[in-house]
Amino acid sequence: MFKIDLIAGARPNFMKIGPIHHALQKFADKIQIRVVHTGQHYDQNMSTIFFEQLGLPKPDISLNIGSATHAHQTGKIMMAYEDLIIGDKPDLLLVVGDVNSTMACALVAAKLNVPVGHVEAGLRSFDWEMPEEVNRVVADRVSNFLFTTCDDGDVNLIREGFDTHQIVLVGNTMIDSLFRLLPQAEKSKILKKIGVKPREYVLTTLHRPSNVDNPDDLRQLMQMLVKLSKKMPIVFPVHPRTKNKMIGLEGIKEEDFRNIHLTEPLSYLDFVKCQKEAFLVVTDSGGVQEETSALGVQCLTARENTERPVTITKGTNRLVGTDPDEIYHAAVAVLNGDIKAGIPIPLWDGKAGERIADYIVKNLVNAVTQ
Ligand code: UD1
Repeated sequence: MFKIDLIAGARPNFMKIGPIHHALQKFADKIQIRVVHTGQHYDQNMSTIFFEQLGLPKPDISLNIGSATHAHQTGKIMMAYEDLIIGDKPDLLLVVGDVNSTMACALVAAKLNVPVGHVEAGLRSFDWEMPEEVNRVVADRVSNFLFTTCDDGDVNLIREGFDTHQIVLVGNTMIDSLFRLLPQAEKSKILKKIGVKPREYVLTTLHRPSNVDNPDDLRQLMQMLVKLSKKMPIVFPVHPRTKNKMIGLEGIKEEDFRNIHLTEPLSYLDFVKCQKEAFLVVTDSGGVQEETSALGVQCLTARENTERPVTITKGTNRLVGTDPDEIYHAAVAVLNGDIKAGIPIPLWDGKAGERIADYIVKNLVNAVTQ
């Protein structure tokens, strides 16, 4: 049996590993998959519900690391994962995305000479203040196989000196999950529960440290949302990081929030429904830029840069920076009809997980088992 470890760490990982897991399972006669959950995200609504809705099996191993500073969290994941694989080495480690769990496990495996495959390789924001950029670059550097979502990733990796044989353009596994579960998401009753109508609300998510960690910046963003909510109601599922920072934030009055529906983090199906029916999405998330482009929904990204430029060149995303006035004016322009048409992004077709599985079987499993 060819043994593969698949790492699940934080919320955006779960929808990326689902399609890989499903596709690899078709080769269960040759491949044994071990799902390792680091516990970086651990809540019911940040983790468990995603496993249930994505049809993922319960993790084979839970490392239960939890929240901590970057060094503590990364270090604890590394120690726990090293202990695990010293006793039982896989033939391949697969990591996805750019969270601390991705980098931590990739580093451990590389030092124990376990081949590493990085799914969503090559994305670059060129912003070293983003923890995810450090994670991306390190994970790519120690990986043997670089599975990319789009040409931009290939270009970045080639510029950094990677061998073209290591780079495999497969498409986007997050979009595989989106397309597979869209019919189910359509049935969600979340809009009714929140009290909004299709195409008559703005959806927002904000959790990047650069937007929410500084109270002054967060206050100004919230004041901008209050102003925007007078034009159209806003649905705002609040990430735990943002919630922690919002508690006790001065200068914001409860009555200002009449048109802002603050909710707990939503389940996968409810959140997809909210994206699909939104008139506009304002976000600083990476994945949401991609999902809105795939759904053809207008998206404004409240960041100074993006590692996902294909969502701008081909999709419906626009980068508007972090200045609250700029975000407000761009949002009002969209509400007034400034709509960006997107075109389909190559290979974002629901089959990326299958391409990864086929590559692994053809190039690694068959080579070992023949
Ligand atoms: C992490 C990822 C980020 C990703 C985001 C998606 C890194 C460096 N960052 O950021 O790339 O976009 O996840 O959600 O890996 N918390 C809970 N419950 C949980 C998990 C976290 O309440 O299940 C709280 C904790 O108080 C924690 C805070 O959220 O301190 C932040 O969590 P953490 O995993 O450190 O980073 P994120 O901001 O979620």
